[in-house]
Amino acid sequence: MDFKQKIAELIAQAAEQPVETIFSGIEIPKAAMGDYAYPCFKLSKALRKAPPLIASEISSKIEKPDFIEKIEIVGGYLNFFVNKSAIGSAVLDKILSEGEDYIRSEEGRGKTAVVDYSSPNIAKPFHIGHLRSTVIGNSICRIYDTLGWKTVGINHLGDWGTQFGKLISAYTRWGKKEDVEEKGISELNRLYVLFHSEAEKNPELNDEARENLVKMQNGDEEALSLWKWFVDISMREFQRVYDMLDITFDACTGESFYNDKMPAVVEEIKSKGILKESDGAMIVDLSDYKMPPCLILRRDGGTLYPTRDITAALYRKKTYDFSKCIYVTAIDQNLHFAQWFKVLELMGYDWAKDELVHVPFGLVSLGNAGKLSTRTGNVVLMEDVLKEAISKTKAIIEEKNPDLENKDQVASEVGIGAVIFDNMYNGRIKNIAFDWNKILNFEGETGPYVQYTHARACSLLKKAGFEKPTEKVDYSEISDPSSQALIKALGDLPCKISEAAEKYEPYIISRQLIEICRSFNRFYRDNSVLGSEGAARNARLSLVWAAKTAIKSGLYLLGIKAPEQM
Ligand code: ARG
Repeated sequence: MDFKQKIAELIAQAAEQPVETIFSGIEIPKAAMGDYAYPCFKLSKALRKAPPLIASEISSKIEKPDFIEKIEIVGGYLNFFVNKSAIGSAVLDKILSEGEDYIRSEEGRGKTAVVDYSSPNIAKPFHIGHLRSTVIGNSICRIYDTLGWKTVGINHLGDWGTQFGKLISAYTRWGKKEDVEEKGISELNRLYVLFHSEAEKNPELNDEARENLVKMQNGDEEALSLWKWFVDISMREFQRVYDMLDITFDACTGESFYNDKMPAVVEEIKSKGILKESDGAMIVDLSDYKMPPCLILRRDGGTLYPTRDITAALYRKKTYDFSKCIYVTAIDQNLHFAQWFKVLELMGYDWAKDELVHVPFGLVSLGNAGKLSTRTGNVVLMEDVLKEAISKTKAIIEEKNPDLENKDQVASEVGIGAVIFDNMYNGRIKNIAFDWNKILNFEGETGPYVQYTHARACSLLKKAGFEKPTEKVDYSEISDPSSQALIKALGDLPCKISEAAEKYEPYIISRQLIEICRSFNRFYRDNSVLGSEGAARNARLSLVWAAKTAIKSGLYLLGIKAPEQM
């Protein structure tokens, strides 16, 4: 099954390049183009040659081993065609012996990836925009973990800043303890919005808010205990959503965690000679890089969002010694990240250039979301979306399969799975138009379709009394085209996982899952499984078992559960 590894070694030897570099560049091409492809433009810089020339030189140097049928050169690509029966037995053997772990690799051994994701703001609604960061970030953590990296998932909560000074003013003036306890974030947000409209009439309120923030910064107990309470109230709500999504973080270190670490960093920026005064504020000028200045200190000496991010990056580098620190946020924060990444570079931290990675995503619009309530202002809350997905799924189950056991649990796993899958079915930059009919369609390219295929495979195995593979598989019994196509789709999954990691694109896995499910359904249409006997029955059931195992592993990587019945 390590064809990819072997091919990487062949290319590496011919091109005199490190195997790891080649390995991560190998792709899975469209079917007619072979089984593995290497885009030679990746070497044109190192070898100072045009990709087609590199391709033909490498190809002529490779001595073709038995498992390779042929190598074709198309443009700057080297396409490898692997012997079908070699693939079949290697793929199945591996899945049958390793089970769900067959997708695991050691690619990232010894390396750490920090993933900063979800990161909602305290006292602000946990809205559908944060959903994307949450599910994409969680998936990226699982993908890297599967590839052998050590991962550290961090929730960088927005828990510090001017808004808390305002909130303290608003709460002290107009708030009631019971209301906040009862209504939580929506009440805090109401008070915050009220503060702004009142401050328009009475600008002195802003001074009061600033004083409150100064109190917080100076450790005033009363101010801090209110702040802490706002944090607790908000976390309680966020936690409900994390529980629904089954997401846990390795660290919940919000912006406030860096308060005592920022002065030293500001000093350091100054000592590097790049801190400048501008209008009373302190900035790093980035005009040489065609960007607006990065703000480090406000006129009143207060720190800002970039100051906290710079400090956090240095802290994380020291604490986790990461090889990558990945930030998953909406695309509208592109400039923010570009700016402070540059500041770190100017401070002399070369690693900032390739180890800090911003992974932006497009917006979610509520095209066809129907009457999703907007409890807070005009944003749609994540919790409401998930609950609605569950109740809609429950209704479908009641109609289609009313006798199902654990209806509530299945409805929750399928409803939530549908929302997650939809968030990662396209390249992440693409905007999403939310549409219930589309995401809950059991026959479309959806989460429920994948889960349903998995459940179908499970019930087939159950009917056959096939718990796990024990007998040796006779591969000649599954050499027909549709069995072969399914095996190929299963074998491609690990390679797709590496590709997803390299591009920070979980959708590559979603698409492969759809491919596996389609191939499975074709295989099942073309072959009698329960009706067959002897070696054929064993081979086909083993293949069904392999397919259900692969689907479950793939869904896991997306953060989706795989119910056995639905
Ligand atoms: N709290 C921010 C927001 O809701 C996202 C934080 C992303 N992470 C970071 N390190 N800046 O927009």
